[in-house]
Amino acid sequence: MPTTTDFSNSDLSNSRIAVLGAGKMGGILLQAFLKQQILSPDRLFATVAHAERAAALSSQWGIEVSTDNVAIAGKADVILIGVKPFQVPALIEEIRPALTSDKLLISFAASVRTEAIEKTAVEEVPVVRAMPNTPSMLGAGISALCRGRFVQPQHMALAESLFAAVGRTVIVDEKHMDAVTGLSASGPAFIYIILESLAEAGVKVGLPRDIATLLAAQTTFGAAKMVLETGYHPALLKDAVTTPAGCTIDGILELEEGGLRVTLIKAVMRATQRAKELAAG
Ligand SMILES: NC(=O)c1ccc[n+]([C@@H]2O[C@H](COP(=O)([O-])OP(=O)(O)OC[C@H]3O[C@@H](n4cnc5c(N)ncnc54)[C@H](OP(=O)(O)O)[C@@H]3O)[C@@H](O)[C@H]2O)c1
Repeated sequence: MPTTTDFSNSDLSNSRIAVLGAGKMGGILLQAFLKQQILSPDRLFATVAHAERAAALSSQWGIEVSTDNVAIAGKADVILIGVKPFQVPALIEEIRPALTSDKLLISFAASVRTEAIEKTAVEEVPVVRAMPNTPSMLGAGISALCRGRFVQPQHMALAESLFAAVGRTVIVDEKHMDAVTGLSASGPAFIYIILESLAEAGVKVGLPRDIATLLAAQTTFGAAKMVLETGYHPALLKDAVTTPAGCTIDGILELEEGGLRVTLIKAVMRATQRAKELAAG
């Protein structure tokens, strides 16, 4: 019989955490939890759809991985939902026998509202919705969290400390979760395209590819760090690079003419719109 988590204490080491649907994002979170040693491997559980993948992941991660969602949900007191958005209702329905109000459900599926999960779960289960991103793999993620109807401050504190183990966290109102999905969950892909393009540009102007990629990546990292650590508006930091009649302003003119700014804004708008639709399948 699993011990029940004391949710008044956001120390995670006494929790039993299950990730139902340990695919790309769930796997990243689990591996980060293991790497950060936030709790011992015998307190981490996971499920996937295919038995052979479950066996392979179990030996790779050294934790119990199965295809039996009900059994694994029964063993855990914090249950993370990581299946595709359209699969969430069926999964909640399936594990309903194992859901009690002393468990904490955390869904990181895009698009699926806490209200929809609460309705399917029936019991007054606390539901936190989270939106992490893939840099969580290196502890450099950003996760937005929002609370469902039955969530108490101690549940939120536990969810926050869980995601703080893989990067930064922000708490938002649920109405902003699709926008978060379009910006920071899809965002790494947008940044990789910018980074790849900068590296290609370096090759075009004669740099070896490996050096061009390193210059582009460290420049992206450094610029982000400047924004995060100085707190200055990005425009101010841009102005500091832009010497009058220098070379940067010529590059900026090309960016503006090519519509980079508008293109990025539209990319986030489109991704946000799509995030609103995903739950419907
Ligand atoms: N990828 C991202 O950057 C990202 C970021 C934030 C949030 N998310 C969210 O994370 C969720 C998963 O996305 P993903 O990119 O990680 O997809 P994914 O790699 O396809 O992962 C889905 C996982 O769910 C498993 N699964 C399917 N049906 C199941 C069932 N009935 N019971 C248990 N496991 C089941 C699959 O098992 P098999 O491996 O055996 O097929 C797979 O491992 C989505 O809801 C998405 O919105 C993703």
